[in-house]
Amino acid sequence: MSREKSVHRRTVLRAAAGTGVLLTLSPGLLLTGCDGGVKAVESETLGLDSDEYDVELNLHAMPDSVPILPGAPSEVWRYRAELLKGPQNTVTENPDSYLGPTIRLRHGQTVKIHIHNELPEDTTVHWHGLHVPSDVDGQPRLPIRPGETMTVGFEVLDRAGLFWYHSHAHGKQGGRVGFQSYAGLAGLLIVEDEEEAGLKLPSGDNELLLVLQDRTFAGNNELVYMGGGRGSMMDRMHGFLGDRVLANGAPPTTRKVATRPYRIRVLNGSNARIYKLAWSDGRPVTVIGADGGLLQEPEDRPYAVLAPAQRLDIWVDLSESQPGDTLELISDRFQAGMMGGMGMMGSNALPLGSRFPLARLEVSKSVEASEPLPAQLGVQRQKIPVNRNTRIRSFELSPVMMRGFAINGRRFDGTNVADDEKVRLGDTEIWEFHNSTPMPHPMHIHGLQFNVVGRRGGNSDSLQQGLVDSGWHDTVLVMPRETVQVAMKFERFDGLYIYHCHNMEHEDAGMMRYFQVQS
Ligand code: C2O
Ligand code: CU
Repeated sequence: MSREKSVHRRTVLRAAAGTGVLLTLSPGLLLTGCDGGVKAVESETLGLDSDEYDVELNLHAMPDSVPILPGAPSEVWRYRAELLKGPQNTVTENPDSYLGPTIRLRHGQTVKIHIHNELPEDTTVHWHGLHVPSDVDGQPRLPIRPGETMTVGFEVLDRAGLFWYHSHAHGKQGGRVGFQSYAGLAGLLIVEDEEEAGLKLPSGDNELLLVLQDRTFAGNNELVYMGGGRGSMMDRMHGFLGDRVLANGAPPTTRKVATRPYRIRVLNGSNARIYKLAWSDGRPVTVIGADGGLLQEPEDRPYAVLAPAQRLDIWVDLSESQPGDTLELISDRFQAGMMGGMGMMGSNALPLGSRFPLARLEVSKSVEASEPLPAQLGVQRQKIPVNRNTRIRSFELSPVMMRGFAINGRRFDGTNVADDEKVRLGDTEIWEFHNSTPMPHPMHIHGLQFNVVGRRGGNSDSLQQGLVDSGWHDTVLVMPRETVQVAMKFERFDGLYIYHCHNMEHEDAGMMRYFQVQS
């Protein structure tokens, strides 16, 4: 059977069954994915409650129709925002894309956001990477029902960095993060601060933002998520891989650039795909930042690995180039444990670890620019000190027959927290993830940024030199058979938070748990 046909067959079958494989949805076709949990009240503000906020905005989650490929527009779910108060550059729409508006905040600002759910099912908005109170974190325990509004308030406590926001709905029938994010519910959130501004890194037109996602389309440009039968079983095990890559919600394009340095800030907003970022001419990738902002100093790598939900900040100097030169940012070939070579990924036109272009830079003009890369970058936030006495908490990532993966033998169980998932406010701990599965898991911890202490074991040969472990992170890639230690401090906020695998299909299938910060 040709691929085309099988997509079509699945489409028809699943649409009839009402499970929403295709995103050509009328609301009636969708199951409501989330139930249970506390109802959010419209009149109050969760989190920081104050009379005065520096920034206030409306954020709508809504169905829409957006051209992605040539031809018919695609049905999507997406965010739209209206700035009610605050600096004009707080909200930048991405009008030609399903991506949510880019939200630009400054360290120290107080922010109030009214989230309007105009979708046919429950949703939440998670501010991925931000240090915010538990009730503001967009957790599944606080779903926003269709037609309802939730207002959240918080202070921007993080230092400068590239963060993002996306849906985090999970009900009794399972997770909807994969589906809703895939449908388009994701956007960038940038935090700026004095330290970063003082470095005078390329900005404005010289700062390129790049959101990488993979998608599969059916014949009339309908987005297709998860196959039926055997396909969906494989999708659940490995995570969903689309058969083409989109950059900022469109096929990769050529960007005209000048002979000067650029800052390229990349988010992996894919459900499950890992990227191996490299330059087409083999020059090193100069990494200046990760999830939680700038590194202490730039690092040259032959390539840089970007797992789902991770961000990388890359500096590239084109001042030696000539008009007419081109340079491609690519994802290079790799083997990811057992995952890479799997024949059963054969149904996918773009297997994990294939080589493909992400963006093309075409030098179109010469300019005189002397903006050397500073030797010292983000030095103000000191690494979390750890020593022999720092408590180590271990988490085993293991397979569960036919049902995905577990953390210490447990799967998602609402807000139930086991004894070994309770931590003390103010404590510093090392969390150790041991991966006893044959596939990589990008582990994410909510509400904080951590340092990677070290790795041992594992099977990451073709990715090893590109794992950026310095600096601050909220998501760390744990390779097959590998043990990774991360250090964190539980500061300021007590309450419930979440840790999980950010392969969204793993997460939705239950590779996620709450933990509790106790004061
Ligand atoms: Cu990016 Cu729990 O999420
Ligand atoms: Cu996983």
